[in-house]
Amino acid sequence: MSASTVLARLAPEHAAPLLAFELANREWFRTLVPDRGDAYFRDFAGRHAALLAEQRAGTSLFWLVLDGAGDIVGRVNLVDLAAGGATLGYRIGAAHTRRGHARRAVAEVVRRAARLGLTHLLASTTVDNTGSQKVLAGAGFRPVPGLPPSLPVGDGERPALHFRRDLTPADAGPGPQVEDPVQATSQVRAAASHQRGRLRG
Ligand SMILES: CC(C)(COP(=O)(O)OP(=O)(O)OC[C@H]1O[C@@H](n2cnc3c(N)ncnc32)[C@H](O)[C@@H]1OP(=O)(O)O)[C@@H](O)C(=O)NCCC(=O)NCCS
Repeated sequence: MSASTVLARLAPEHAAPLLAFELANREWFRTLVPDRGDAYFRDFAGRHAALLAEQRAGTSLFWLVLDGAGDIVGRVNLVDLAAGGATLGYRIGAAHTRRGHARRAVAEVVRRAARLGLTHLLASTTVDNTGSQKVLAGAGFRPVPGLPPSLPVGDGERPALHFRRDLTPADAGPGPQVEDPVQATSQVRAAASHQRGRLRG
């Protein structure tokens, strides 16, 4: 069981290992969230550049979730930063689930959101995604009424659940710190072996 989870802000150099991560986990992810679609993988470089531009503009924040060895084990995002709030999304690779990575990564992003002065976070998942519901409950999210009534999963739709986490200055810490190195690149191993809908993971 890994006890180490590191967040690294998305950077240009992450394109190749991140593509490998998404390809390796495409079938796993499509069981619980929308498939990215073939075009996403064909134009991964363009998509990566667009995310970085969004991040530079300050409308979204993207992190890679790394294990202690520096391998990409997942992603966690805050998108649509506006009016004091943002929408949370996350995904953990199949080989790395049930080790606490999502719980630790989301808890840290909640702290970072509070430090940024955000007042609330929103998240959505589907009724059958028990793991995601546990991650949200563990991070203090509460169910709220919301739309849409269903969300795309794989090639279909499933009933949706919506959540909100109100933030106060107390959420900013103190607490365990998960690194977010400015020079994130060296932390990410180019691991060839490892090898948006509204679910924003
Ligand atoms: C949902 C997901 C993020 C969970 O990530 P994870 O790293 O395995 O979660 P953690 O190990 O931090 O576990 C958190 C809790 O969820 C539970 N859990 C994780 N996966 C579970 C599953 N498939 N079924 C039931 N419980 C599960 C854990 O036991 C733990 O429970 P606890 O708080 O009572 O100890 C991961 O399965 C995933 O990325 N799935 C595909 C993409 C996705 O669903 N993203 C979320 C979209 S809203």
